[in-house]
Amino acid sequence: MSQTLAIIKPDATGAGHAGQIVAHLESSGFAVRALRMTTLTLAQARSFYEVHRERPFYSSLVAFMTSGPCIPIVLEAENAVARLRETIGATDPAQAVEGTVRRLYAESIERNAIHGSDSDDNARREIAFFFPGSEVLG
Ligand code: RTP
Ligand code: MG
Repeated sequence: MSQTLAIIKPDATGAGHAGQIVAHLESSGFAVRALRMTTLTLAQARSFYEVHRERPFYSSLVAFMTSGPCIPIVLEAENAVARLRETIGATDPAQAVEGTVRRLYAESIERNAIHGSDSDDNARREIAFFFPGSEVLG
């Protein structure tokens, strides 16, 4: 078993899709190990997306991610990182496979409903970012 981090983004929480997305993740075989709702500060969003700081969409992404509450979730499954990326679908919902979270709930390539860690190292880093200490169940 391994863990990964999902974030239900402000577009999806604002649209009232959080419960359906958590249900989708559970029925896709993930166990929820930690979950909370939070509104990111500018500093937190800039830091979380630091890797994208040179990209043209960085400031817009930071504005979007601080625009309302989001829901970070630690998910556990076999091969959790790859499996979550498959479950959420491509970054651009127009390219996402039928039945994926982004195909079902995303509004646009930026307002795309959910985040998923892209490697085991980043999953560990991102889980510690949102759940420092002992908030994650083993
Ligand atoms: P995420 O990190 O949120 O799971 O998404 P991802 O790996 O599929 O995409 P990534 O390249 O890491 O981009 C991070 C987030 O930035 C926004 N984005 N906007 N306007 C654009 O062209 C654009 N490209 C990316 C999205 O919110 C994307 O999820
Ligand atoms: Mg990414």
